[in-house]
Amino acid sequence: MARKKITIIGAGNVGATCGHWLAEKELADIVLLDIVEGLAEGKALDMAESSPVGGFDVGLTGTCDYQDTSGSDIVIITSGLARKPGMSRDDLLKANTQIVADVTGNVVKYSPDTYIIVVSNPLDAMTYVAGKISGLPKNQVMGMAGILDTARYRSFIAGALNVSVTDISALLMGGHGDDMVPLPRYTTVAGIPITELLDEKQIAAIVDRTKKGGIEIVNLLKTGSAYYAPSAAAAQMAEAIIKDKKRILPCCAWCRQEYGVGGAFVGVPVILGAAGVEKVIELKLTDQEKQLLDASVAHVKELTAQVDTIL
Ligand code: NAI
Ligand code: 2OP
Repeated sequence: MARKKITIIGAGNVGATCGHWLAEKELADIVLLDIVEGLAEGKALDMAESSPVGGFDVGLTGTCDYQDTSGSDIVIITSGLARKPGMSRDDLLKANTQIVADVTGNVVKYSPDTYIIVVSNPLDAMTYVAGKISGLPKNQVMGMAGILDTARYRSFIAGALNVSVTDISALLMGGHGDDMVPLPRYTTVAGIPITELLDEKQIAAIVDRTKKGGIEIVNLLKTGSAYYAPSAAAAQMAEAIIKDKKRILPCCAWCRQEYGVGGAFVGVPVILGAAGVEKVIELKLTDQEKQLLDASVAHVKELTAQVDTIL
C-alpha cells in the first residue's frame, strides 16, 4: 500500500518541528516546502539522516517547488511571519494574508482534493483565507489553535494538582486570541470536574495564564513564538485524519448555524476523522459562556472583514 503524503508549507520553527513529529509517528511521507532556497531541503535531509537512529521509515523531501507536493493527502500551512515581543497576532494580518493566499493557490493547483490544516496567524483569519482561496469543501479546511490552547491549559492544571497531564480533559472555544474562551465547566481530571479540585481563584489564574500562553513564550524567546506545542498539536490533527480516529478536538472549523456564528472559521469542538471536520459538536453554553463566545466570534469577523479588503 502506498504511503500517505503530508506536505508542510514553511520549514521554519513550527513547520520543521511538525515534520519531525510526523516522521517519528511514521504517518506519511513528508514534503517540507519553503520559499528560502535550501532551507527545507537542508532540514529534510537532516531529519532523514536522523531516521536510522529514531527508527522511522518515511520519505522526507525538502523543496521550493510545488510540483513536489503533488497529490498530498494533507497540507499543513505554517508559512508566514511570527510574533516578536510587543506584537499581537493581529499585527501579522496583512503580510500573512498575502503569503497564505499565494501558498494556498499553489497548494490546490497540485493537490486539488487535499485537506488543509492552517497554523499561520492570526489563525482564524488565515483559515478563512485558505478556505476562500482553495474553494475546497468546508470540512476539508481547518485551523490549529484549540489543541494548543487546551494543551497549555491542561499542563497548567496538571502542574497545579501535581497529577498526570494525560488525565486532564479540557475544552476551549472561540478565536485564537486573548478573548479565547476556556470552559472550566467542561474540564475534568480523570472524570472529576476541576471545580471540585481547585477553587475559583486558582481556576481564574490558570485561565488567565492560558489566554496569555502565546505571549509568555514570545517574551521568553524574544526572537519568535512557540513551536514545540504548536507543531505537536498540528501533528495530532493530521494523525486524526490519516488514521480516521474520530477524535473530539477543539479546532478552528467553519460554522454557520452552529452556535449562531453565521459563517466564520472559529474554534469549536469537532469530530476529526478521514473526512476532516466530520461534525461540529454543539454544547449547551451558559449565558455568560455564550456572551464570551459571541465577543470572540465578533473579533474574528472583524479580522476576516479586513482580509476581504486585501484579497
Ligand atoms: P518561522 O519564521 O520560524 O517560519 C516561517 C517560515 O515560513 C519561514 O521559514 C519562511 O521562510 C516561510 N515562508 C514565508 N513566506 C513563505 C512563502 N510565501 N512560501 C513558503 N514559505 C514561506 O515561524 P514559525 O515560528 O514557524 O511560525 C509560523 C507561523 O505560525 C506564524 O504565523 C506564527 O504566528 C504561527 N503560529 C501559529 C500558532 C497557532 O496556534 N495557530 C502557534 C505558533 C505559531
Ligand atoms: C501561540 O499561541 C504564537 O499563536 C502562537 O504560541
